[in-house]
Amino acid sequence: MEETNKELFEKVVKIAQARGFVFNASSIYGGLRSSYDYGPLGVLLKNNISNYWWKDINQDNDISVFPVDTAIIQSSEVWKASGHLAEFSDPMVDHKPTGERYRVDQIPEGLDKEDLTEPRQFNLMFETSIGPVQNENSNVYLRPETAQGIFVNFENVLRTMRAKIPFGIANIGKSFRNEITPGQFIFRTREFEQMEIEFFCKEEEENKWFDFWVNKRMDWYKSLGIPEDNLRLREHSDNELAHYASKTVDIEFLYPWGWGELEGVANRGTFDLSSHEKSSGKDLSYFDPESNEKIIPTVIEPAGGLTRTLFALLCSSYVEDEVNDATRTLFRFEFDIAPIQIGILPLSKKDELIEVSNDIKNLLQESYRTEIDVTQSIGKRYRRQDEIGTPYCITVDFETLDDKSVTIRNRDSMEQERVAIADLLNFFSDI
Ligand code: GAP
Repeated sequence: MEETNKELFEKVVKIAQARGFVFNASSIYGGLRSSYDYGPLGVLLKNNISNYWWKDINQDNDISVFPVDTAIIQSSEVWKASGHLAEFSDPMVDHKPTGERYRVDQIPEGLDKEDLTEPRQFNLMFETSIGPVQNENSNVYLRPETAQGIFVNFENVLRTMRAKIPFGIANIGKSFRNEITPGQFIFRTREFEQMEIEFFCKEEEENKWFDFWVNKRMDWYKSLGIPEDNLRLREHSDNELAHYASKTVDIEFLYPWGWGELEGVANRGTFDLSSHEKSSGKDLSYFDPESNEKIIPTVIEPAGGLTRTLFALLCSSYVEDEVNDATRTLFRFEFDIAPIQIGILPLSKKDELIEVSNDIKNLLQESYRTEIDVTQSIGKRYRRQDEIGTPYCITVDFETLDDKSVTIRNRDSMEQERVAIADLLNFFSDI
């Protein structure tokens, strides 16, 4: 990583930890490598991103998408049929003197070939067992993708929702991969969250829907507030394609160390439904009333990473500027996405001001995420709100008691304006 980018990476990680976005997991025990917990602001931010994702899909009148929330532990038959048991692996070598394990394509320079074992396939799924007796029948796996929960529910959703293709099914939640080289903070972890859609369509419309999803998802990342220059599309070469895909285009973000994948849009064809139909013996076809034929729909899959998106947003929103010869740091989150949208800052802890602040919070909190902040000087409180990305602060001062007005400070411009308390809801609804 270049020095300036390394500095940015370190600053973002530091502030994310210091301000309660992300903590090292098990930190009181020294931490667990590459495992992270989301703190109060991280949870708010993560929820805002996933709600924004769902809102964008649910409110698009051009498509119909149904949500599911499927189990992390499924029958092992699912992973046999999906190909994950056989294919979801990386070739690995062990370095005999140190016991370190490396992916074949990531062996560090300078290691003596004599010291390396022959490459072996290493499955990335976490294995565990259910029930009191451990034997081969009790073996199960933590899901490595949310996608399979969708395919095994295709018929359930089709039937209960009377769905007609084209339609999609969306699933969001944790996935687990025993990554050999996790790293770059929350970019690659063994436990992460995905936001996936399987969109079922007719084969003759696969290209139309593939392009639709690539464009729609790219627009979504931009609307989230990620600058266009930090985003790009990259098509997979043939030898990069996953075992189920005939075409994949990644949406990449320019992380401090270079371009990295945010989301993959893949054409999975009929691979998954056909495999599950064959393995389960259940009819997973769709009756097309237009042609009077049974077909296995083609699948276009936009598969995004929620935790990766959160990190991309932290990196692209981080800004430093100079104010009165001092450096101010802020996250420039969009108003809809910011963990706290409005900070309410009474100038003093006097009861009258706290009372008005509480009234203002009551007025606003039905529509907005608000926080009353009473500690430290007003300057320090502005800095803290800037650092956590709060777009607006309302200052309640002694004049407020007479003129029933407050000062609203804009995070980015730092401009202040006086607004009547009675006009506050209008002010914020106009943003
Ligand atoms: N169902 C297809 C699928 O899972 P993928 O490209 O392996 O495709 C989709 O994963 C997205 O999930 C990635 O684009 C990335 O954002 C996220 N992701 C995958 N592995 C991850 C990891 N180890 N840590 C964090 N996010 C990950």
